[in-house]
Amino acid sequence: MTAAGSPREAPRDGRALLIAQLTDIHVGFAPDAGADELNLVRLKAVLARVLGGPNQPDLLVLSGDLTDHGDAASFARLTALLADCPCPILPMIGNHDSRAGMLGAFAQLRPAKGGFLHYVVDAPMGLRIICLDTFEEGRHGGAFCEARASWLTDRLTEAPDQPTMIFMHHPPLATGIDWMDPAPDEPWIARLRAVLEGQHQVQAVHCGHLHRPITTRFAGIPLGVTPSVAPLVAMALQAIDQDAPDDRELITTEPPAYALHRWDGKRLVSHYESVGDWEVLARFTQGLQPMIQGMLAERG
Ligand SMILES: [Fe+2]
Ligand SMILES: [Fe+2]
Repeated sequence: MTAAGSPREAPRDGRALLIAQLTDIHVGFAPDAGADELNLVRLKAVLARVLGGPNQPDLLVLSGDLTDHGDAASFARLTALLADCPCPILPMIGNHDSRAGMLGAFAQLRPAKGGFLHYVVDAPMGLRIICLDTFEEGRHGGAFCEARASWLTDRLTEAPDQPTMIFMHHPPLATGIDWMDPAPDEPWIARLRAVLEGQHQVQAVHCGHLHRPITTRFAGIPLGVTPSVAPLVAMALQAIDQDAPDDRELITTEPPAYALHRWDGKRLVSHYESVGDWEVLARFTQGLQPMIQGMLAERG
């Protein structure tokens, strides 16, 4: 089952599969700004780096909150910017999106039984990618009902030995960013943990939603949160009292960022890059060639 088109048979460089992950774009947060909307400006900068930089991805995962209100106009602005993307796109729903909006925007999506927008992609180099749907209408936090647990169990059971990577919008755990965190005993989290425990083929779970770079483990599996394209959530790790506003930082203009997951057939490694107007301070020139040669000589 492939819901996002057929990825290339093999990565271009012949060495590793590169999966770019952009998350929490929130197009339409300030629709009156038109093309000058901050979130569109940030998206253009990230796309220019991801698609025009030195690390051309083989797949582009969009892990939810692609729009701010799930409306067709915002999805249209998003897909217009993605029109020239040369690699397959794996779109996923977040709590700010809508299933109707997603289906209207991405022709490659087909609702599964129950209407869920979850699917499997057989990627090159033997990697299986599972994109989950943790959306529940009207809810900020995640959801993972019995129907979705049954679907994921079937998907994992049918390929128990194939290296698998899971994407989902909502991290299923508390990280210390109190106003964004779920309660640790939410039933959907226990349900997901029960499905994933002991599934040794799962290399990692990668999420969005928290607008910050975070790593941890869940059900014994490495779990990463990719920072957002839209403004970031501040790293404020103190418990919050909703009845006592304390002027803490909530949202910042830290630069937009994305993840680049590298699968070499044996190991999954995840890189994160912020996108800004940086200067390059050193390049591989003849002047630095002796240093590079010396370093590589150590590899034997
Ligand atoms: Fe978000
Ligand atoms: Fe979200």
